[in-house]
Amino acid sequence: MSAFNSIGWGEGGVVRMLDQRKLPHETVYNDYHTYGEVAQAITDMVIRGAPAIGAAAAYGLALTAHRTTAVSPVALRAELAKAAELLRASRPTAVNLFWAIDRMTKTIADPALNTVSALQTATLFEANAIAAEDVAINKQIGQNAQPLIPDEATIIHHCNTGSLATVDYGTALGIIRMAHEQGKKIFALLDETRPRLQGARLSAYELKAQGVPFKVIADSASGHFMRTIGVDLCVVGCDRVAANGDTANKIGTYNLAVVARANNVPFYVAAPTTTIDMATATGDEIEIEERPSREITHVGNCQITPDGIEVGNPAFDVTPNEYITAVITEKGIVYPPFKENLAKLMRSGEIA
Ligand code: MRU
Repeated sequence: MSAFNSIGWGEGGVVRMLDQRKLPHETVYNDYHTYGEVAQAITDMVIRGAPAIGAAAAYGLALTAHRTTAVSPVALRAELAKAAELLRASRPTAVNLFWAIDRMTKTIADPALNTVSALQTATLFEANAIAAEDVAINKQIGQNAQPLIPDEATIIHHCNTGSLATVDYGTALGIIRMAHEQGKKIFALLDETRPRLQGARLSAYELKAQGVPFKVIADSASGHFMRTIGVDLCVVGCDRVAANGDTANKIGTYNLAVVARANNVPFYVAAPTTTIDMATATGDEIEIEERPSREITHVGNCQITPDGIEVGNPAFDVTPNEYITAVITEKGIVYPPFKENLAKLMRSGEIA
C-alpha cells in the first residue's frame, strides 16, 4: 500500500486500513478479520470519505466470504446477507456505502457461483474492481476539471477529499493535486473542518507531502479571504448528490457555498457518479448523520466546553443546487439545470 492508500486486501486474507484517526502524527495500519470489525471501523472513522467507505464495505463482504466456516453456498449467502445488513448500518449519509453493498450483493446473487470457493473468488474480485475503478474515476475527474482551473489560482477546499477519502488519488483534492502536477501556480486554502478537523489533519498532510502550496484556515475565514486576497474558486467533494443536484457534504459546505455566491466565486462539486443518487429526488430526503457530542465538546482529549451542555453535531449539510456552479464527474462536467442534465448523464453517460 502507498503512503496514502486508505484500504487494501492484506496477506492471509485481512482488510488493511490506514487509521485516519491517528494522522498526521502516527501512520498505523490496522488489520481487520471480521465484517463486524470493518463496520465498527467505518462508524468510528478509522476510514472515512464516501468512496473509501464504499470500498471498505465491499472488502468487508469479501472478508466475510474468505473467513467463513460455512460449507455450503446457501449458508455463506445467509452470512453475507447478515454482513451486508450490519455494514449498511455503519453510517447513513454517503451513498457510496449502499452503492458498493448493492453491487456486491448483485455479484453474490449470481447463480453461477455455486460453491463456497467460487463465492470467495468472486467477492474478492469485485471488491478489488470497485477499488481499482475508484482510482481511475478520480484521475479522470482531475483531468476533466482542468479547463476550469486557471494557470494561477487560489482555491478553497473543505474537509478531506484526497487519497485518504477515496481508495487513492482523491476527487476535489485530486483536482488541486493534478493542477499542481501540471505546473499551474496553485495556492490552496484548506478549511480546517471542525469538528473532526479533516482539513487541518488530513488534507494538510496530503498536500504537504505532495508539495502543493497551502494554508490551513478556520472554517469561518473563507469570506474574509474571498474579500481580501481574492479566491478564484471553491471545490468540494460530496457524500450524496440528489437527482436535482442538491448535495450533501461535510458540515460547513453549505456555509462556504453561500459565502462563495455572495462573493461571485464559482463553487464546484467533484462527484464520482457512484455518489450521484438518482433515487433521492432532493436534498431534503438525505439522512444527515448526527455524531457523538464528544466531537464538539472535546478537541482531542481536551474538553473545551462546560460540563453537561447540549450539543448539536450534524456531520453533513445539504447545499441547495442553486449554489452549485457545476458538478465535475468522471464522465464530464454537469451544469444547471441539474435535474435534467444529471438524469441525462446517469442514463446515457452523455453530457448536455
Ligand atoms: O465524515 P467524513 O470525513 O466521512 O466526511 C467526508 C466528506 O464529507 C467528504 O467531503 C466526502 O465524503 C467526499 S470524499 C471524496
